Amino acid sequence: MQTLYKNIRIVDDTQDFTGCVLVEDGIITQVAETIDEPAFEILGAYGLYNSNLIVRDFTGEDVVLMPAFTDLHAHFRDPGFTYKEDLQTGCEAAIQGGYTAVNLMPNTNPVCSSLKQAREIEKRAKEICGITVNQTLSMTKDLEGTNIEHLKSLKKNEILFVTDDGKGVQDDAVMRQIFEICKEKNITVLSHAEDSKYSATDMRKAENEMTARDIRLFEEVCYGGTTATERGHLHFCHVSTEEAIEMIAEAQAKGLNITCEVTPHHIFATGDEANHYRVNPPLRMQEDLDALIKAMQAGNVFAIATDHAPHSLEDKEKGAPGMIGLELAFPLCYTKLVRGGFLTLSQLVKLMSTNPSAMMKLNKGKIVEGMNAEFVIAELQQEYVIDVFSMATKSRNTPFNGISVFGKVLEVI
Ligand code: DOR
Ligand code: ZN
Repeated sequence: MQTLYKNIRIVDDTQDFTGCVLVEDGIITQVAETIDEPAFEILGAYGLYNSNLIVRDFTGEDVVLMPAFTDLHAHFRDPGFTYKEDLQTGCEAAIQGGYTAVNLMPNTNPVCSSLKQAREIEKRAKEICGITVNQTLSMTKDLEGTNIEHLKSLKKNEILFVTDDGKGVQDDAVMRQIFEICKEKNITVLSHAEDSKYSATDMRKAENEMTARDIRLFEEVCYGGTTATERGHLHFCHVSTEEAIEMIAEAQAKGLNITCEVTPHHIFATGDEANHYRVNPPLRMQEDLDALIKAMQAGNVFAIATDHAPHSLEDKEKGAPGMIGLELAFPLCYTKLVRGGFLTLSQLVKLMSTNPSAMMKLNKGKIVEGMNAEFVIAELQQEYVIDVFSMATKSRNTPFNGISVFGKVLEVI
């Protein structure tokens, strides 16, 4: 089966033009300004036609076709907290938001600490929906902070990521060992940088101290490596302070294989008296927000990740940190970053699709021949109001309900 997308604005990390994309059996086979409708095959009452071809002509429609997004950081709460979200509603929320791939955090119940558990979740997700779901393993067993025996039995290249997201690993010696094991097994370490000594009193210090600690230990283990494995890979989750992003940029300049992600909420909103919506790391100050955007422009930020953290209203009232993100990420980022004049749409696509897709080793993220035809079609001109009650996610925890934005996902392919 072939589908021809005609006369549509096509945007990926290196292209932005009006043209055509031809897809055959789920793979992009041609991208060009004009593509003639592929060979006629059947002689029918109206002459020769191609029974195998669907033509979608977008002439006159003000829409854009981009590679579908990939989220490096989402919580689907399955198993254990399925009253907040489950695999089905999480995947539906992803699709509504323009995502065809998500990486899930392990702070479920039970915690995902084994390959067997991860593969089971991935298998269930596959049965439920058509998107790619990767389940990350905890880096300490059951997120308890010290036991890393479960990592030792993993084979090289068997998994992509480990993380103690939500907590971080407090013990330096344990963290150092994690870097060593992950280097040997080619696993990317996803760091939730929070020094819990300071969590109750100074969340800025908590993030900054742990970011510095992780860079120092990673440097000890991986500095000077030449092959991909020797270089290791440390990726910081949801970076939110000016100091942290500066430390990361410095470490990158030294040649360390360190990347990071920023969330839509940390670049869209500051946290002040009026807006203290609880999320971890917290919403920061204008200076931090400016520094994060500057780092995006400079290429020090590798990806935008949602940290989709659904909670029931009751749990929020009890103080659970986090907010939903999958169905808000594109409008928030498009409105703030592209309409705000900080990034081009191509740069945004790189952060939401090209780079995170590459990190998940997926054959998607660019509109080029040979890649999967995983697309998102969006409308960019009409302002609309965010309505959390129309969303697919089970939870409603967001401070952004009712705000006006641009950038609406119309369709995911
Ligand atoms: O706000 C947050 N919520 N930050 C985290 O790191 C964890 C997440 C959650 O699991 O709810
Ligand atoms: Zn986290």
